[in-house]
Amino acid sequence: MDDWRRARLTAVVYDVGVEHERIGRIGGRLLWGADLDRYYRDIDDLRTLVDGCRVLDVPCGGGIAFRGLPEDGSYRYAALDLSPVMLRRSRANAARHGLREIEFVQASATALPYREGGFDLCLSYFGLHCFPAPAAALAEMARVLRPGGRLRGSSVVRGSGRRQDMVISLFRRIGVFGTGGTADDLSSWLAAAGLDEISVERDGAVAFFSARRSPAPHSTG
Ligand SMILES: C[S@@+](CC[C@H](N)C(=O)[O-])C[C@H]1O[C@@H](n2cnc3c(N)ncnc32)[C@H](O)[C@@H]1O
Repeated sequence: MDDWRRARLTAVVYDVGVEHERIGRIGGRLLWGADLDRYYRDIDDLRTLVDGCRVLDVPCGGGIAFRGLPEDGSYRYAALDLSPVMLRRSRANAARHGLREIEFVQASATALPYREGGFDLCLSYFGLHCFPAPAAALAEMARVLRPGGRLRGSSVVRGSGRRQDMVISLFRRIGVFGTGGTADDLSSWLAAAGLDEISVERDGAVAFFSARRSPAPHSTG
């Protein structure tokens, strides 16, 4: 949502919470009834990035994924977010981790400033539920992936329980969540974006997803 462009406090509170893994895990359990172990493990897995890999991290937030990046790898990493506060935090975070090769971009996930097929891997952790048009954002991520490129991420989804749905409604009212959807909606959006090998696994109100851009020629129709 556009509110992220202005919201300083929300950005800082969220980012400090998620960077401190214990707090992040407690928040995941309390707010979403979810175990965020997979989130932190996925990020740690970035250590195995192969040389030459082109990665897009959207939204990068405060740069939580940087902790997984090899310091001396020869990957290309683009970190994109709408919020200047988050981008400032992610720059500082990259400097702390000794990562100098990251490109930072302020833009909307629904209009990615990249050519088609330029990335091998797209990461999208805890962003879709914040975007005004998550299906359009996924279509953009699919567009900028090369055929056979991979997408993986997580999103808060509706439909896991009354308490979680109430928290989602509250976050929508204060403007930090967008329209969002259910885990089934997420599967449909991924398929509509031209992705295959789709996996969506829900834990509480958090859906972890992965997909591949179909190797067949992509049509944005
Ligand atoms: C909950 S944070 C997640 C950040 C990070 N991926 C993580 O796992 O901590 C959501 C992020 O989405 C960003 N955001 C919200 N709307 C956006 C949009 N339309 N385009 C790009 N980023 C957006 C916010 O600025 C915020 O940094």
